Amino acid sequence: MKPKLFLALLLGTLCLKVTAQKNASADISSDSKLTVSRFIYGQFAEHLGHGIYGGFWVDKDLPVEKQDRIRLDIVNALKKIKIPDLRWPGGCFADEYHWRDGIGPRDQRPRMVNTNWGNVTDDNSFGTHEFLELCKLIGCEPYIAGNVGSGTVEEMAKWVEYLNLDGESTMAELRKKNGHPEPYKVTLWGVGNESWGCGGNMTPEYYSNLYKRYATYARDYPGAQLKKIASGPNSADYNWTEVCMKNIGTGMWGLTLHYYTVPTGDWGHKGSATNFNEGEYISTMVNCLKMEELVTKHSAIMDKYDPEKKVALVVDEWGVWTDVEPGTNPGFLYQQNSLRDALLAATTLNIFNNHCERVKMANLAQTVNVLQSLILTDKDKMLLTPTYHIFDLYKVHQDAKYLPVKLNSPDYEFNGNKIPAVNISASQDAAGKIHISLVNLDPHNTIKVSTSLGDLHWNKVSGQILTSANLTDVNTFQSPDKVHITNFNGAKKEGGKLSVALPAKSVVTLELN
Ligand code: AHR
Repeated sequence: MKPKLFLALLLGTLCLKVTAQKNASADISSDSKLTVSRFIYGQFAEHLGHGIYGGFWVDKDLPVEKQDRIRLDIVNALKKIKIPDLRWPGGCFADEYHWRDGIGPRDQRPRMVNTNWGNVTDDNSFGTHEFLELCKLIGCEPYIAGNVGSGTVEEMAKWVEYLNLDGESTMAELRKKNGHPEPYKVTLWGVGNESWGCGGNMTPEYYSNLYKRYATYARDYPGAQLKKIASGPNSADYNWTEVCMKNIGTGMWGLTLHYYTVPTGDWGHKGSATNFNEGEYISTMVNCLKMEELVTKHSAIMDKYDPEKKVALVVDEWGVWTDVEPGTNPGFLYQQNSLRDALLAATTLNIFNNHCERVKMANLAQTVNVLQSLILTDKDKMLLTPTYHIFDLYKVHQDAKYLPVKLNSPDYEFNGNKIPAVNISASQDAAGKIHISLVNLDPHNTIKVSTSLGDLHWNKVSGQILTSANLTDVNTFQSPDKVHITNFNGAKKEGGKLSVALPAKSVVTLELN
C-alpha cells in the first residue's frame, strides 16, 4: 500500500474511533403491578466513629442549631431527601448493646467500651429515647437491630415491651417515667446482625433456631405488629439463605443481605476514596455490579420456599468501603465520597428498583461520617456528599409504580474489564408523572439513549443531572458544592421516542408528563 493512502486510512480510522457515536436503546412498559418501596431508600447509623457521637449527636456547646443535642442541619438535610427509615444501633455494635444502659438520667447511665470500633468509651448518652426523638424529627421510621449475639431472649422481649406496650407493666411504667407516656410503636425489628460474623459467629442452622426463640418472645402489641427481620447472608453465602428460608420461611418479614463494594476487591488494601485511576474505577464498578447477581441468586433461592414473595430481601448494609482517610482513626471508617461513589449509589439503586418484587428495603451504610456517607461534618461545619445528591434525585421513585425497562447498552471497557456503560430504572408516581433514572458509567463518551414508552402518554420532559469534571471530584469543607445537581437539557421527544444525550460519567433523572 502507498504510504500516503495508508496514512489517510489510519487517520480515518482514528477519527472514526474518536467521534463514533455510542448508542443505547430502552423500552419502558407500563405492564407491572409492582411498587418501588420507599424503604429501598433507607439509611443506617451505628455507634461507630463520628456517626452518632460528633455526627447526629453533638456536644451541647457546639455552635449549631440543635434540639437537645441532635443537630438540626443534619435533620433538615435528611428530611429533604425523605429518608424512610433509619437503622440503629448497629451493625456489629448491636450485638453488644444492652438497651437498659441507654435509658434514664444521662449522668447515671453506665459507660461501655465500643470494642468493635476503636475501643472508645460510649457514655450511652444517645440511647433509645434519643434515637426515637431523632427519627421523629426526621419524620422517618425507626429500624432497631436487637441483640442476639450477647443479649438474652428476655432482654429483647423487654425492649419491645418497653417500646410498644400501651398498658400497665413495669416496662411500660419505666418508659413513662423516662418521659414517654405513649408507646413508640416501633415495627421494623432486626433479630441480630451478621450472626455469621461479629454477631456471634454462628452457623445458619444454629442461627435460624435462635431466630425462632428470640422472635417468639418479641411480641406484637396492639398497633405495633413487628416486621421481624432475620440476619441474612454475607454477600454470596447462598447456603445461609437456603437454610434460613427452609427453617424460618415466612416466619420472618425479611431476610437481610450485606454486600459492600471494595474498589480493589481486596479487604487488605481496599483502595483510596479520593486517589484512584481508571483501572481502579472500572474494578469498583465491576464489584458494584455484583449486586445484580447477588440479588438475583438470593431471590431465586427465596422463590423456592416463598413463591408468593412474602419475605422481603432487605439489603440493610451496602455501599463502597474504601481505606480510611489518611491520618484518621482506622476504627472510625471515615472516608471521603466522590463522583465515582455517586455513580455507584445510582447504579445500585437502579438494581434495587428493578428488583422491587423482592427487594423491599435497603439501607446505605452509614449516613453521617462513616463509610459511604450522605453527610460529612467537621465540628460545626457540614457538607452534602455526591451520594446525598443521588438520594435527592432518586426520591421521586419512592412508593411509585414500577415500570419495567428492557435495555440495550454499549459496553465500557478498560484494562480487560468490560461492563454495560448504561443502567436505568423507571417508575410512575401517583400523579401520573414518569421518572426515569439513567446512569452512564463510561467516563469518556456521551451515549445517545433512544427510549420507547409503549402506551405511556407524555408530552414534556425535564431533567436534572449530577456530574463533574473528574471521577475523583469530592465536596470538601472548603468547596462544599463542587459536585452538585444542575438542570439537564439533553432530553427531547423525537418521533414519538424519548431521546437522551447522556453525558459521560453522569446520573440523570428525567420527569415526563
Ligand atoms: O457498617 C460497618 C460494619 O459492617 C457493620 O457494623 C457490620 O454489620 C458490617 O460488617
